[in-house]
Amino acid sequence: MSERTFTIIKPDSVENGNAGRIISHLEAAGFTILAARMTHLSQNQAQAFYAVHNERPFYNDLVAYMTSGPVWVMALERDQAVPTLRKEMGATNPADADQGTIRKLYGESIERNAIHGSDSSENAAIEIAFFFPAADLA
Ligand code: CMP
Repeated sequence: MSERTFTIIKPDSVENGNAGRIISHLEAAGFTILAARMTHLSQNQAQAFYAVHNERPFYNDLVAYMTSGPVWVMALERDQAVPTLRKEMGATNPADADQGTIRKLYGESIERNAIHGSDSSENAAIEIAFFFPAADLA
């Protein structure tokens, strides 16, 4: 069944010139791009987006990194979109990610790990709505 997910191509990927290769990887994996835009997260946006992690020791660094440069935010669709994106991304730490995954190919560290993907269909809906008005997905 068709499902939506949400991704952020993170600042390290844009800075290193890998955004296009990551978008190609996602298209080759069968995702349809429903909406996409380049943006530069504000401090408030990054804090709110990662609020679930606000007790973690890495939270402040994560917010600083995610606001350090432009990113691509994208709404994606395919069958089994959430688990398929997570499989294509690989483990959070690129060092632990399987060969051929986006984080293995392009991630630098557990923080500068190339890409974010929603962890559930419910969170995908919340994250898509955080960045895109419903009209952009019509
Ligand atoms: P993401 O999937 O976007 O969700 C939370 C992010 O926090 C994660 O990717 C990493 O970029 C970052 N992160 C998770 N765990 C750690 C950690 N132990 N140290 C530093 N950053 C982390």
